[in-house]
Amino acid sequence: MIITSAEFVTSAVKPAQYPPTDFPEIAFAGRSNVGKSSLINTLVNRRHLVKTSSTPGRTQLINFFLINQTLSLVDLPGYGYAKVPQAVKKQWGPMVETYIANRACLQAMVLLIDARRVPVEEELRFIDWLRHYQIRMIPVLTKADKLSKNERIKQRAAAARILLLPADELILFSTKTRLGKEELWRRITDIAWPDQGEDHAES
Ligand code: GTP
Ligand code: MG
Repeated sequence: MIITSAEFVTSAVKPAQYPPTDFPEIAFAGRSNVGKSSLINTLVNRRHLVKTSSTPGRTQLINFFLINQTLSLVDLPGYGYAKVPQAVKKQWGPMVETYIANRACLQAMVLLIDARRVPVEEELRFIDWLRHYQIRMIPVLTKADKLSKNERIKQRAAAARILLLPADELILFSTKTRLGKEELWRRITDIAWPDQGEDHAES
């Protein structure tokens, strides 16, 4: 995917604040600090389009970005971080579920899991939501650069077993080495423009 433009559109908490549904939309979810914001920056070749932080809980709103004037990417706040204020935590579930339930243009959810962990209850519950609302899921294992090649393959197999998916459906990703970037773009463009094959990705 050649990126010609990448811009921040708006932040939202509730549907009335979402931007118009003019484009196919792909959202990114996962535990706090898993690397959602960094992954979006890597995908669109921008260092600072999305704010990232070594302190978990940085993203607390639903942030919308428009890529090439044709694709909407959505950075969701992370779940599961203990130090986020209680009020924010309480807001997370309804805010994200309302988004998933109401966003007609949402085509797929990229679910990020740290490659050093395996999916646990939180991820499985989230996947249940996605299934319930019939949203496709693209599983991504982040920070793969922190593992050796052997460990990566092992972790991917372990995560795949828990998710009941074939291992090659899980994308190993690193913002440091850009591992997985092209594969993730391929999955996203295939879903956003199912009829156009490779054309869109090349133009
Ligand atoms: P919240 O907004 O708090 O939910 O976090 P987030 O999921 O958006 O994480 P963010 O992108 O802010 O990254 C968290 C930390 O992980 C930062 O210090 C990043 O530099 C680091 N990080 C993200 N991706 C990678 C990766 O692929 N490799 C390594 N080594 N570090 C990464
Ligand atoms: Mg973030």
